[in-house]
Amino acid sequence: MGNRAATPSSAPELVDLVVDKERRELLKEVALNLADIVLNERQLCDLELLATGVFTPLTGFMQRADYESVLDRMRLQDGTLWPIPICLDVGRTLAQSLEIGQSVALRDPEGFLLAILHIEDLWQADPRLECQRVYGCRDREHPGVAYLLNSTGEWYLGGGLEVVNLPLHFDFKQLRMTPREIWRMYGKLGWKRIVGFQTENPIHRPTFEMTLGAMEQAKANLLLLPVVGITKPGDFDHYTRVRCYRAVQQYYPPDSYLINLLPLSMRMAGGRDALLHAIIAKNYGCTHFVIGRDHAGPGRNQKGKLFYKNNSARELAVAHSGELGVAIVRFEEMVYLPLEDEFVPTDLVPAEAQAISLSGSEIRRRIHRGRKIPDWATFPEVLSEIEKAYPPPRRQGLTIFLTGLSGAGKSTIAQILYAKFLELGERPVTLLDGDIVRHNLSSELKFTKEHRDINVRRIGFVASEITKNRGIAICAPIAPYGNTRREIRQAIESHGGFIEVHVATPIEVCEQRDRKGMYAKARAGLIKGFTGVDDPYEIPENPAISIDTTNLTPTEAVQEILLYIGQRGYI
Ligand code: PPS
Repeated sequence: MGNRAATPSSAPELVDLVVDKERRELLKEVALNLADIVLNERQLCDLELLATGVFTPLTGFMQRADYESVLDRMRLQDGTLWPIPICLDVGRTLAQSLEIGQSVALRDPEGFLLAILHIEDLWQADPRLECQRVYGCRDREHPGVAYLLNSTGEWYLGGGLEVVNLPLHFDFKQLRMTPREIWRMYGKLGWKRIVGFQTENPIHRPTFEMTLGAMEQAKANLLLLPVVGITKPGDFDHYTRVRCYRAVQQYYPPDSYLINLLPLSMRMAGGRDALLHAIIAKNYGCTHFVIGRDHAGPGRNQKGKLFYKNNSARELAVAHSGELGVAIVRFEEMVYLPLEDEFVPTDLVPAEAQAISLSGSEIRRRIHRGRKIPDWATFPEVLSEIEKAYPPPRRQGLTIFLTGLSGAGKSTIAQILYAKFLELGERPVTLLDGDIVRHNLSSELKFTKEHRDINVRRIGFVASEITKNRGIAICAPIAPYGNTRREIRQAIESHGGFIEVHVATPIEVCEQRDRKGMYAKARAGLIKGFTGVDDPYEIPENPAISIDTTNLTPTEAVQEILLYIGQRGYI
């Protein structure tokens, strides 16, 4: 397959893997007798892009020869430029139950049939080699590397696909067009030159100015391709972003701007990703594609070092643009000149001028902390959408997670906190004390490790729902295991505040108090697996607050917690 030079008036041969109605009925019957593979989020994204031709010329998950050729030279075996492996990964046990020549049913997590994969290849991949080739490193701080090393099955399946149903989406359906539908739209609008811009950030003023500049430079209309599959951790959710994209529509010249959602699971592989994005844009009929300085890079690692050199992604795309059939529009970061009240690319700032800038990540940070965004940096409509979805800490939900030994003082502190928040009356409050939960949610559970984990996860789930809906959850289980606590923190932090309080009263004091007589029973061997006696309590590594109630009244302990929360703007 060579280079498919095309203009929007002559659509390229776009792959379409969705079968017709008759075949669909037949395959639904056939699937009843096939082994099932349930796809995860990334695999669902890949399947959708394969099915609708966004990944043209791929017609299924890659086989080994193509995979190795892509790793080695960024090309399929037949020489076609293709930078990223698109394979279906599975775990060892599942792989061992499958063989080449077999067909399997691909389903979504609800069991809905999506496609039949005809397995033509099955092999054990080398994730470390893949990391090195695709990402240029094995640093687990890189989200693409972390995904490959932590969450990818080591066995790959390759083969052709017959797609019965596309993955289901219920949101923004009008903005989810296939490349074919987009090409038809160009015909209707009379568009001949289209510049594509792919993003996972809202469009703030600098980006807006940059896209306008790109449209001018390319003499083209704009196709905005917001990534709504998997983006970088910490990005704004796509519902909010799409509302923002709609809000900026009014600032573009009439009928010059189309939005189409791209269910892509980003790899963040810098140059290789930039090439993939240019191929995607080409398949959506773009004649031009904008690439900025750090396109598709995950930014910096913890030592502050960039994963990819500035401009490297863009240079790679420019070097291949002839072959891609897409002109690359290079854009530098746009900075603001306050005196002139205008934006210019950073390389064109006059020597005597003072330029200021605010990156997308800095805007995100400010929003999360409830700090002000200057007027010049964004549009009022965009800011209002973002602030609606990401209110300042004072209006966010909050979980206060008290953990510690039995008798440490968790329940009393939790009750006082509960009363204080009710007194303030600003947000609904829920108390999830150990006893309350054990009685109402976990009455069938005992105190084995497995049951404690289930119990604590249930508390975490309820607390995360409360936090998501902007209430306050006060939790007070022993929660003795670090991993489970970490899991809960991660689940809740993306929805609002999570304050871990270690009620660190030493076991001798707890045992001396022994209000329920449990320690005495545990020492006498009448209760087995009692925390601190013959079952471990893993001390929290990084609690927000650590409180020893040996010489502190419960009211003083609560005061300390409220002070901490107040300083962080939650009350
Ligand atoms: S856990 O580990 O988080 O699921 O525990 P939790 O739900 O908070 O329950 C702790 C209360 O149950 C009583 N109890 C035990 N605690 C620890 N170990 C064992 N084996 C055990 N059996 C019963 C204990 O009195 C705890 O109550 P509090 O209020 O913490 O003193």
